[in-house]
Amino acid sequence: MNGTERMRIAITKGRLLDQSIALFKRMGLDCGPVEDPGRRLIHALPNYPLDAVLAKAPDVITYVEHGVCDLGIVGKDTILEKGGAFYEVLDLGFGRCRFALAVKEGVDFFGTYRTRRVASKYPDVTHEFFARKGMDVEVVKIEGSVELAPILGLADAIVDIVETGATLRANGLIPIETVAEVSARLIVNTASMKLYKNQITDFLSRCETELGRSGV
Ligand code: PRP
Repeated sequence: MNGTERMRIAITKGRLLDQSIALFKRMGLDCGPVEDPGRRLIHALPNYPLDAVLAKAPDVITYVEHGVCDLGIVGKDTILEKGGAFYEVLDLGFGRCRFALAVKEGVDFFGTYRTRRVASKYPDVTHEFFARKGMDVEVVKIEGSVELAPILGLADAIVDIVETGATLRANGLIPIETVAEVSARLIVNTASMKLYKNQITDFLSRCETELGRSGV
């Protein structure tokens, strides 16, 4: 809370923003200012005591963890990779995709004893996945367009987000295993949950009513 009895919610910019706004509108929140944000990063919602803060996914977690934002909307992919101390209270049902292990078509990833190299934007998720399997792999961190790594011969496989599968197909890769299911989550700062229980309960129940209505 920012001292003015308005809560702050950090929302992940990009793919999750439009669907967050659509949900808020169904909850009865006037989202005018966030719908046309320009370069401005904080927007007061006119008919509800909430300020929307637009941030990159890992920063949503940082702001909520530090209590400068009370609530946050962020993908489970970022939560799995970054972790942190906060409550994950609701699966918002949108932004659905999965982490998959993918290889070049025809590659027998598991059929060799040599140490395999796996490229990912999500090294911790990747390490944990192979640790659960008891497999020792070398993980190379890539910042984006991870599909390039096996094509260029840098890695035997990738662990990456797959939504429609179009990017994998277009690059001759096939998913061979699901690592984790992903969707947008509502997170809450641990102190805010106690201090602003009533406000957060109101927000949560509006969310849940709408998610129930849309069958999520
Ligand atoms: C993500 C992901 C894949 C793609 C998957 O990339 O890393 O490349 O989307 O979507 P699809 O299965 O529907 O094709 P993003 O666009 O976020 O950019 P990035 O590669 O720079 O991470």
